[in-house]
Amino acid sequence: MVKHYPKHEKLRDGTEVVVRLMVKEDQGALSGFFQKVPQEDRLFFRDDVADPATIRAWVDGLNYDRVLPVLALSDGKVIGDGTLHRRERGWARHVGTVRLVIDPDYREKGLGTLLIGELVDMAKGLKLERLVVQLMGTQHAALSAFRHLGFEREAIVYQHVKDQAGRPQDLVIMIRDLMETPEPVSF
Ligand SMILES: CC(C)(COP(=O)(O)OP(=O)(O)OC[C@H]1O[C@@H](n2cnc3c(N)ncnc32)[C@H](O)[C@@H]1OP(=O)(O)O)[C@@H](O)C(=O)NCCC(=O)NCCS
Repeated sequence: MVKHYPKHEKLRDGTEVVVRLMVKEDQGALSGFFQKVPQEDRLFFRDDVADPATIRAWVDGLNYDRVLPVLALSDGKVIGDGTLHRRERGWARHVGTVRLVIDPDYREKGLGTLLIGELVDMAKGLKLERLVVQLMGTQHAALSAFRHLGFEREAIVYQHVKDQAGRPQDLVIMIRDLMETPEPVSF
């Protein structure tokens, strides 16, 4: 189930933001957005987002049944990108994986919270039961931000992944449970 977009929101500092699903026509704007993300962040991303071929592959493979990409725009410019990844079959069909990147000029203004809220709403609508985010152990700010966004560190797989410079890094798995906590039964 996809919510009705576009939505108009305001950040804490008053910035007006449009939130909507990504479409193929966003390829150029999305490439521009990722070029602006500092190298010290990109180093720890799963994919090489500075390479336009990466963004082209995402756009070419756009399929909302597998990945729901939500963009935040200000004055027509992409300032945030959140994605919800899921599988329709298999043992992890109740699990969604999220990724989230905010333009450095718009961080710590509540935009990450806003986009995670969108991803959580969509995940609940799709009857997903938990959300996972995968980070590298050196992403201290992001690890802290995701704790604030309701995710708990569930596991560390030591030296399991390699950053964009080829150095081995710890993989940290954080989870946010989407199931309502049942009311305690009273007798
Ligand atoms: C992590 C990230 C998405 C947070 O986005 P944001 O727009 O700054 O988030 P918000 O302003 O909504 O803040 C969310 C919470 O995290 C906290 N937070 C944000 N940045 C933080 C930081 N650098 N250090 C510690 N806490 C931080 C905020 O205080 C807030 O907590 P609160 O609700 O209790 O006040 C953003 O920093 C980012 O894009 N980082 C680079 C990309 C990345 O590493 N993504 C993770 C891989 S998927």
